[in-house]
Amino acid sequence: MKRELTKGRFPIEKFSGVTTPFYYYDTTLLRNTLRTINEECKSYDNFNVHYAVKANANPKVLSIISQAGLGADCVSGGEIRASLKSGFPANKIVFAGVGKSDWEINLALDADIFCFNVESVPELEVINELAAAKNTVARVCLRINPNVGAHTHANITTGLAENKFGIAMEDMLPTIERIKEMKHIEFLGLHFHIGSQILDMGDFEALCNRINELQDLLEKHQVKVSNINVGGGLGVSYDHPNRQPIPNFHDYFKTYASHLRLRPGQELHFELGRAVVAQMGSLITKVLYVKQGTYKQFVIVDAGMTDLIRPALYQAYHKIENLSSNEPAATYDVVGPICESSDVFAKAVDLNTAHRGDLIALRSAGAYGEIMASQYNCRPLPKGYITEDFI
Ligand code: LLP
Repeated sequence: MKRELTKGRFPIEKFSGVTTPFYYYDTTLLRNTLRTINEECKSYDNFNVHYAVKANANPKVLSIISQAGLGADCVSGGEIRASLKSGFPANKIVFAGVGKSDWEINLALDADIFCFNVESVPELEVINELAAAKNTVARVCLRINPNVGAHTHANITTGLAENKFGIAMEDMLPTIERIKEMKHIEFLGLHFHIGSQILDMGDFEALCNRINELQDLLEKHQVKVSNINVGGGLGVSYDHPNRQPIPNFHDYFKTYASHLRLRPGQELHFELGRAVVAQMGSLITKVLYVKQGTYKQFVIVDAGMTDLIRPALYQAYHKIENLSSNEPAATYDVVGPICESSDVFAKAVDLNTAHRGDLIALRSAGAYGEIMASQYNCRPLPKGYITEDFI
């Protein structure tokens, strides 16, 4: 049987001793992506990019991203700790989330992070109180729910009035009024996030238009806004994991530069997660069995929904490649070992003929992969390796 271990950019010959399933992170691609982001931003001196740590908090990945100079967008005390440990400076850390616990707020105050993205008046009151107890002042942006839809999966749309996120637009001015009475809160500006895996620049344009309206309104009321944070959401091509540039940062930043009417001196912040890390990651798994069912052939692999939950949770597509076989393609359902019928990575996909022991790559799995893994069925968590681990 002919087995050529030559596919893609994977050091497959070095994978043989590694326990599967595991995540492999191509750091050359990650560094290229970070370089592209920095180059695209260079022409706009008031653009600040924060990496949304929720997408992938592998310490080695975080260190590479912090070295590239990005800030960190965190949604928990754990993420703030991980970011500080990986070298992100506190003055580049922003902290969002609808349910910040007291210990998390205290941690952020002690670290003196750049800004809290605040999602409700009760949260503001608690931050004010905790900051008072420490005799300090918390810098905040108000997360406004812009009621702008995004053409993406319903589970990852966040900017509609029906979602739990942010403060309603009509409550924006009254909330800013309340802040004036809070001695331990400094108002920096506004924060938004409309959803994830957005490929239509028109959605970001709609957000820009909404922010322009809100800024006009604030100006009428003499409210000074020094910072605007537009969140993240830029999508990637799951069909073409190797296509460069990945993804189109040029059009993304240009959309904001051309449609958002920034006032002099204003700083613009982005919180990109998926776009930074999705394409550099693959879940590497081994074929356990090739099973002929009544109607179809199954490739049963040793990774399951516990390792990569996106297909089960969002019906997400990840390109699948057989790294070990060059034999003609056959059609398979690729499934995991978990006791759930939703533990399916793909139905009716064409793969080079599979055999027990073949290595399979689930591509574009660098974002919301390893970090969303669970121990359901008492399974061990998958490990993450970077290119340098195999040199
Ligand atoms: N900022 C905020 C406030 C967010 O809620 C998110 C993502 C981001 C930034 C980063 O968004 P990105 O640039 O990665 O689209 N687990 C889902 C995605 C959930 C995204 C949640 N919020 C998935 O696997 O598709």
